Amino acid sequence: MDRWIGKIAVVTGASSGIGAAIAKQLVKNGMIVVGMARREEKIKDIAETLAEKGKLYAVKADVSQEKDVVEAFQWVKNNLKTVNVLINCAGIGRYYPLTGEGKAEHLQQLLNVNALGLTNCTTQALKLMKETGVDDGHIIHLNSVVGHNILTFTGHYIHTAIKHGVTVLTEGLRRELVLEKSKIKVTSISPGLVNTEMVDDFKTPGMEDSLDGMPMLEPKDIADGVIYVLGTPPHVQIQELTIRPVGEQF
Ligand SMILES: NC(=O)c1ccc[n+]([C@@H]2O[C@H](COP(=O)([O-])OP(=O)(O)OC[C@H]3O[C@@H](n4cnc5c(N)ncnc54)[C@H](OP(=O)(O)O)[C@@H]3O)[C@@H](O)[C@H]2O)c1
Repeated sequence: MDRWIGKIAVVTGASSGIGAAIAKQLVKNGMIVVGMARREEKIKDIAETLAEKGKLYAVKADVSQEKDVVEAFQWVKNNLKTVNVLINCAGIGRYYPLTGEGKAEHLQQLLNVNALGLTNCTTQALKLMKETGVDDGHIIHLNSVVGHNILTFTGHYIHTAIKHGVTVLTEGLRRELVLEKSKIKVTSISPGLVNTEMVDDFKTPGMEDSLDGMPMLEPKDIADGVIYVLGTPPHVQIQELTIRPVGEQF
């Protein structure tokens, strides 16, 4: 990780769960981290607990709003000049059965945050990397085991479809960067169940105990995976890293 000391990382969804754990680990490893989320105050609270060599800034942004994302990356450019690493971690879970009982707003939110938000942030980060001559950056998408398999996941097949989309967006971006002869790396990290606020969103209405007793990872387990992926030598690209709790049944 030494080559990243003092370099700039943007972590979306840094106000809770996996994103917060990643932001903390990057700061611990000496990076200057910009946490982006709607609950900016939660990121500020985390920053106050960190006494490490790096630094954590909080920038309020709704990643589903292109204007917010453009302004947030403008803040990064104005204050920190560039970005070296983007971790696309912002995400939501919404119950949306395909049989017609789903709420249209849930469908819209899933697409706007999990697909468009990730793409908006990637576009802005790459633009800034190119403008400032960063050709050894790294873009990491938080995918999921549901991005590679069609699990029995009633009410969450839109979520499943979008995460499959993240798999395509990872490989598509890798191929486009290769065509540009860029050395920027792209990685998808695909967790199984992780103990975060999002788990409640995956419970089927009326079956609130459906995930009880299932093995779960902790957010730090995923942050450790990010450190491994970033720590690889410049010629090594981890395209996909799946991290499941031992004993996961689906
Ligand atoms: N937990 C799991 O079991 C699991 C498994 C596989 C993959 N994942 C993936 O891991 C990622 C992180 O999830 P998590 O489990 O850490 O969930 P979490 O604790 O609920 O965190 C989600 C984060 O996304 C942010 N976010 C949500 N909507 C946003 C928006 N419109 N604009 C900006 N930020 C937004 C939230 O911040 P604000 O609310 O402050 O905006 C929060 O920081 C997601 O992509 C998720 O799909 C999670």
